[in-house]
Amino acid sequence: MTADLFDAAAMYEDDYLHFFAKGAAPTHGPLVGTAHSDAAGLVWGLLGLEPGMSVLDVGCGHGVMARALAARGCRVTGLDSSAVFLDRAGRDGAADIDYVLGDMRALPDWTDRFDRVVNWNTAFGYFDDDTNRAVLREMARVLRPGGRIAMDLDNLVKFLASYTPSRVTAALDNGDMLVDRHHLDPLTGRFEVERTVIRDGRTRTLVFLKRLFGFPELRDWFGEAGFGAVGGFGEDGKGLTAEHHRMVVTAALQ
Ligand SMILES: C[S@@+](CC[C@H](N)C(=O)[O-])C[C@H]1O[C@@H](n2cnc3c(N)ncnc32)[C@H](O)[C@@H]1O
Repeated sequence: MTADLFDAAAMYEDDYLHFFAKGAAPTHGPLVGTAHSDAAGLVWGLLGLEPGMSVLDVGCGHGVMARALAARGCRVTGLDSSAVFLDRAGRDGAADIDYVLGDMRALPDWTDRFDRVVNWNTAFGYFDDDTNRAVLREMARVLRPGGRIAMDLDNLVKFLASYTPSRVTAALDNGDMLVDRHHLDPLTGRFEVERTVIRDGRTRTLVFLKRLFGFPELRDWFGEAGFGAVGGFGEDGKGLTAEHHRMVVTAALQ
């Protein structure tokens, strides 16, 4: 496994849930997750989901999508590398969901197991590009032939148009805040964030990054990983435009 580009454990832990678990109010520009009013309904339609289908949610976080799909009758497995998030998901969960602590770079022995894979809210693009491509191949490996995938990412065109060098990403009534400084690296296509977490009067900083993708590039990556019929949609399920905040890429395993 390749070296991490940032400390995911420092990012995806209790402070993150403190600000985002109930949905923080956007400051300027939509926050991750706030653009979809009915994300599960969107995935349901785009992936042709049916009750009884087996679904793997890669990078399931604290289980919002996993719970919604399980409530609609799917057999859901959620995989995430954050024990803190999975613990929260298990406590929140009424539905029968199989949560697995794991790394998307090396999925378990699940070859051909799932009807559908979901990867939601920018849970892709955390590694160097060879590894990011390998993650796509892992997602392909665990899908049965003809299985389908939906991946939700920032829409690069809109993202760049609304780029700011810094922002207050979340501000709670009690004064707790997330303040982010941004850096775009055109040579790597990475968006790097230096985040200051202000909580209960204490501050700490952390760094995280994500790879930004234009649709044609990611379509080609999906093709290399064995997928076909690659489509791009916005948060409303319509064909992707420059005005959409989110880019949902769907594809079928060949
Ligand atoms: C932006 S969050 C999205 C979470 C969830 N999909 C949602 O919609 O709320 C990204 C998720 O990816 C997970 N993640 C980061 N690196 C990972 C890895 N190497 N393997 C598995 N999950 C990882 C994080 O723990 C986090 O839950």
